[in-house]
Amino acid sequence: MIQKTYCMIKPDAVARGLVGRIVTRFEDVGLQVERLELGRVTPEQAAANYAEHVGKPFYEGLIDYITSGPVVKMVLSGPEAVAVVRKLMGVTDPGEAAPGTIRGDFGLSLDANVVHGSDSVESAEREIAIFFS
Ligand code: RTP
Ligand code: MG
Repeated sequence: MIQKTYCMIKPDAVARGLVGRIVTRFEDVGLQVERLELGRVTPEQAAANYAEHVGKPFYEGLIDYITSGPVVKMVLSGPEAVAVVRKLMGVTDPGEAAPGTIRGDFGLSLDANVVHGSDSVESAEREIAIFFS
């Protein structure tokens, strides 16, 4: 099924000049870049995007980090795009992520883990509305 998903290149990766290489990973498998924008995440957008994590010990740091500098916001589309993007990203902790995944190849820190991708079709619809409305 053709799906749309929301993906974000996080501040550390933008600052490190990894945008081109990360977008290429998605294009290489045949995903289509439908929207792409460089900009800051507002505190309101950060809170809406990470509402599921309110109250967890890492929540405040997560909000501070994602609002700390420019990110690249994207809508990607293609067959099973949600799962494909998550697979290309690798697991949450870059230290555990397999080589060949974006987090495995470009990250070292759980807090600054390079990319975000929607975890379901419902999350994707919600997140696209948060960042591209
Ligand atoms: P994301 O939402 O950023 O795409 O990451 P994810 O689905 O792989 O992981 P999620 O569970 O949604 O966690 C969101 C972000 O919070 C940070 N985190 N820190 N210290 C910790 O135990 C911990 N757990 C999660 C990570 O930066 C993660 O990307
Ligand atoms: Mg998540």
